[in-house]
Amino acid sequence: MGRMDDKVVLVTGAARGQGRSHALRLAREGAGVVALDACTTYDHIDYPLPTPADLEETARLVKADGGRIETMIADVRNSDELGAAVKLAVSSFGTLTTVCANAGIGGERGTMWNTHEEVWRTVLDVNLLGVWKTVRAAMPALIDNGGGSVILTSSLGGIRGLRHTSAYVAAKHGVVGLMRTLANEAGQYNIRVNAVLPGTTNTPLAMNKATFRLFRPDLDDPTMDDVRDTMQGLALLPTPWVEAEDITNAVLWLASDESRFVTGVELPVDGGWHAKF
Ligand SMILES: NC(=O)c1ccc[n+]([C@@H]2O[C@H](COP(=O)([O-])OP(=O)(O)OC[C@H]3O[C@@H](n4cnc5c(N)ncnc54)[C@H](O)[C@@H]3O)[C@@H](O)[C@H]2O)c1
Repeated sequence: MGRMDDKVVLVTGAARGQGRSHALRLAREGAGVVALDACTTYDHIDYPLPTPADLEETARLVKADGGRIETMIADVRNSDELGAAVKLAVSSFGTLTTVCANAGIGGERGTMWNTHEEVWRTVLDVNLLGVWKTVRAAMPALIDNGGGSVILTSSLGGIRGLRHTSAYVAAKHGVVGLMRTLANEAGQYNIRVNAVLPGTTNTPLAMNKATFRLFRPDLDDPTMDDVRDTMQGLALLPTPWVEAEDITNAVLWLASDESRFVTGVELPVDGGWHAKF
């Protein structure tokens, strides 16, 4: 018996990182998974983004594990593509019960007043509007299903300010606000809405040269090892960062019936960074 046997999940941003980890684990627990990713690039982003081969690799890993998965190249900025992904879930697996609105981008590298407007718009478009569009596309199917669980990926930056990421932090605060409002609107349909708030997570979005330079401006070519102590200094528990699987464990709980009466919460998975005095 899996913890997700009767569930059908839509995961956005599933070509790699946390989204891939969610797809793999939720499928292993018995869910049918529709995994989508834009597999695209952005002008201002200076860390490598995934390709369609990465999304195929997610599917290969799920199938090799005996799981059920359908994939789609789709952009969370495009409502038509999101609508098609929801249809794919219903036609492939019979319904839709769960949404992991996980897709997101980072990559800002300056103070708020030095950030270009186009960068601001792009980050808000993907990280806030993209989440809204994802859930908006899914709500009718969740209501038809008679209930469900929506998990929005915010960030520690969804509840506190962080330097050099003003658009990201504004978007992630917006995701928390969206979660709180939607939880109030969707409860009457037996739909739960919660947010996970990852701290620094070991994926390419955070673990890249540009981030390392932000943490260690004193070094010419800093590496992951060079930022370990600075990042550890932010946490309460003895870990400088968390792994994608740590976020997945929280997502799995929120997606499963084990959290059946939990709605409207933001759950940090960050080694205690949010609580550090
Ligand atoms: N890594 C961290 O430290 C960290 C911390 C807090 C929150 N987060 C959030 O976690 C989520 C997952 O990020 P990750 O750490 O796995 O990074 P990642 O870069 O490995 O994965 C993000 C995925 O989203 C996809 N994506 C980007 N734009 C998209 C779009 N327009 N439409 C569809 N897919 C798109 C990317 O192609 C990528 O596969 C993001 O929302 C991110 O903001 C990450």
